[in-house]
Amino acid sequence: MSRTDFSAEEIAAVYRAIFERRDMRHFRPDPVEPALLRRLLAAAHHAPSVGFMQPWRFIRITDADLRLSIHGLVESERRRTAEALGERGDEFMKLKVEGISECGELLAAVLADGRDKQVFGRRTLPEMDLASVACAIQNLWLAARAEGLGMGWVSLFDPAELAQLLRIPAGGKPVALLCLGYVEEFYPRPMLEMQGWERRLALDETLFENRWGEFPVAN
Ligand SMILES: Cc1cc2nc3c(=O)[nH]c(=O)nc-3n(C[C@H](O)[C@H](O)[C@H](O)COP(=O)(O)O)c2cc1C
Repeated sequence: MSRTDFSAEEIAAVYRAIFERRDMRHFRPDPVEPALLRRLLAAAHHAPSVGFMQPWRFIRITDADLRLSIHGLVESERRRTAEALGERGDEFMKLKVEGISECGELLAAVLADGRDKQVFGRRTLPEMDLASVACAIQNLWLAARAEGLGMGWVSLFDPAELAQLLRIPAGGKPVALLCLGYVEEFYPRPMLEMQGWERRLALDETLFENRWGEFPVAN
């Protein structure tokens, strides 16, 4: 007897979206239909959040000059990151780490102001607001993949400078730039893996039993 009300095809579709989602940095310039964008944002808005605080706000960037200024911020941070990386700096500069100029839609994901009022689930772990925004972004990412759209998460920027550019009130904080749009094709594997920057850990390297560092005894 089945213990789920998802069909086998529906289950497979969920896993397919998870495994075939990619962080995309190459886009076709085609616009994203407004109804589709709205569906994706609704998926984001149905994410879980600590104390149901829903701390996410999304700013859709439609002003071309503003997009250009945002690209400038990211480019400055990309250079600062390369300097901070030391001996891997040159290798880093060869990576494509954003598609801000090309993507059909650019969104900023922002932590709303006034979050200190929310104590439930955040008294000892205040960063759970950020975790909640990350859940919303992941929903958007997976829904986009299922709809045939790519998304790239860009975190290379100074949040204070971006907050100023986007007129975010004090206490609010931009945490991601999301490049969204149609793509020629999805990368078969993470781009950073394809370019030799990093590899995926084996699942078993990330699983402990009972205590940190203790691996399950094989049966
Ligand atoms: C919090 C977060 C921030 C990220 N920031 C960037 C970024 O600034 N630039 C970039 O190229 N990729 C960024 N990524 C994408 C990761 O590089 C990517 O998820 C990882 O390489 C695995 O690839 P995959 O998403 O295709 O599976 C970010 C991802 C996360 C979750």
